[in-house]
Amino acid sequence: MARISPDIIDRIRDSTDILDVVSEYVELRRRGKNYFGLCPFHTEKTPSFSVAPDKQIFHCFGCGRGGNVITFLMEYEKVEFVEAIQNLGKRIGIEVEFSKDDKKKEFFTQLYDLHTVAVKLYKENLQSKTGGKVRNYLKKRGLSEETIDRFNLGYATSSWDQLFSVIASKDIPDDVVQKSGLFSKSDKGVFDRFRDRIMFPIKNRGGRVVAFGGRDLGGTSDAKYLNSPETPIYNKSEILYGLSVTKDAIRKEKSLVVVEGYMDLLQLYQHGILNVVATSGTALTEKQVNEIRKVTNVVYLAYDGDVPGRKATIRAGYNLLKGGLTPEIIEIPEGLDPDSWIKNKGTKEFTKAKDRSIGLIDFHIKFTELDLSKPVDRSQLAREIIDEIVNVKDKIVQQFTLKQITELLSVDENTLVGMLSRKSRWINKRRGDQIQVVDDWALNTSFEKAQRELICLLVSNDSDTISFIKKHVDFDHFTHPVMKTLAERLIQLDSDNFTSHLSGVLDQFEDKSERELAARLFFETTTQRNPKQVAIDCLITLEQTPIKQSISEHRIILREMEKKGEDTSNTLSEVVTLQKALKTLEQKRVQMLNL
Ligand code: GTP
Ligand code: MN
Repeated sequence: MARISPDIIDRIRDSTDILDVVSEYVELRRRGKNYFGLCPFHTEKTPSFSVAPDKQIFHCFGCGRGGNVITFLMEYEKVEFVEAIQNLGKRIGIEVEFSKDDKKKEFFTQLYDLHTVAVKLYKENLQSKTGGKVRNYLKKRGLSEETIDRFNLGYATSSWDQLFSVIASKDIPDDVVQKSGLFSKSDKGVFDRFRDRIMFPIKNRGGRVVAFGGRDLGGTSDAKYLNSPETPIYNKSEILYGLSVTKDAIRKEKSLVVVEGYMDLLQLYQHGILNVVATSGTALTEKQVNEIRKVTNVVYLAYDGDVPGRKATIRAGYNLLKGGLTPEIIEIPEGLDPDSWIKNKGTKEFTKAKDRSIGLIDFHIKFTELDLSKPVDRSQLAREIIDEIVNVKDKIVQQFTLKQITELLSVDENTLVGMLSRKSRWINKRRGDQIQVVDDWALNTSFEKAQRELICLLVSNDSDTISFIKKHVDFDHFTHPVMKTLAERLIQLDSDNFTSHLSGVLDQFEDKSERELAARLFFETTTQRNPKQVAIDCLITLEQTPIKQSISEHRIILREMEKKGEDTSNTLSEVVTLQKALKTLEQKRVQMLNL
């Protein structure tokens, strides 16, 4: 089957109006320049589903779904990209070549089969002569043959086309090969995606291999781990590594241990902790929480004992809480991960730590970077926790958590109740009135606001402002990955065909939640009277913030040093340098204004 050419996709997008398409499915009413209706993706009584014809996108203020016309069809009709394109093509008389329905089933079977072939080959490689060094490595890491076998570990050799030549003889359609995620393409041709890596097959709920994680062996690659991309059979946000093997043990134990890495999981499993799954280093998603809820209600988080690990623990913990589960946290000693820890200290020590596990709120308070001796920081932490628990549906859990904060932070309960109800009223109001919504995190600091505002300016299609930003922006100053990607892509858009390409930018986000955030950002409109001045303010803020942060960190250090009676002259001169840099930025602001 022929792949659809980008030209055709562009043509179809250019000649389709999202308003026409969505109107066939949803009754829309105009309000201002946008249209509103009842969201087809979740049950609601007041309309929070909105379409912006000027940007050719949709966004639901209630459930957060969003995207362009192609995404809408894919999600509404539950079809794949190609089929959505074909459907749109039909409306405007463009024939898009596409395989028939009966072929479709075969398509999925072929994708699964291809993975089966790969698993077998990688396993054989591991047992072969070239696999010797890998077997040694795995042995050194303490994995037994039994574990290696149980989880079907394998080895992708350093060859560029070993897997490709094996499947070449099997008469598998190009389309299947391309969509499998097992190969990459360059002008020289198709080649194996995974080379010289230990291969961890990733199975779906039913136990079928749908993807791989591959660990770099030589330390030569930038990515220690490389995973399959999202494919028709692999939806990253739904799958937990190991679950298909461990789910019976989870049910039997009536509890689950969540770890970050493949190796953590294997090591725990080998040490008799059988009720374990791994997130593979990504944030725990709502869908994964739903998967967990199907097998147990008791969840222990055992993430790495470092700052990123603890941050991820807190995030995952609140996601579990929102999903109706109550997480317990196993504290892993500083600098260790569950893998190294259990390998050195054994199962007993780990089980002891599990028995001493602490609740999420205790953990959050214990490891917050805020200084809880200061009232301001205390109130900040209370606010952080309230921002999370406002989304917890179970009111009893919410009340209980509120009590905990009251006691642990010794703050007045009534004040907290007030904060919580104001916050939830605000959220309900947002949902009810379809006011321009800003993601919570985007409201947090002027730094994040500046990033958001720049995106708004870029979406506004004001070519003067865009070229001004283009000239002065440094993308490295963007700290939010979605904002950064958006800024980079928006700035390259052709101003002639801005609108149709604007919605096309959304197709470049593989991750659904990132795409939805992007669509939401597109929805925000800016009504700046002086866009250039706003752009300058934002650009300066982006540069200033890290310097200001550094100054305040230096101040803290200075205070400590003074307390201890140490010589502060070096640190002081660093502060002076930083302050000079701030001054220079003020001059830069004036210069830019006069440009
Ligand atoms: P080892 O060094 O083999 O013990 O790995 P680890 O499991 O300790 O890795 P780490 O704690 O650094 O990361 C935890 C998990 O995050 C890994 O198991 C991977 O799933 C994922 N991960 C780590 N590094 C990368 C990377 O460079 N790219 C991707 N895509 N995932 C990664
Ligand atoms: Mn490790």
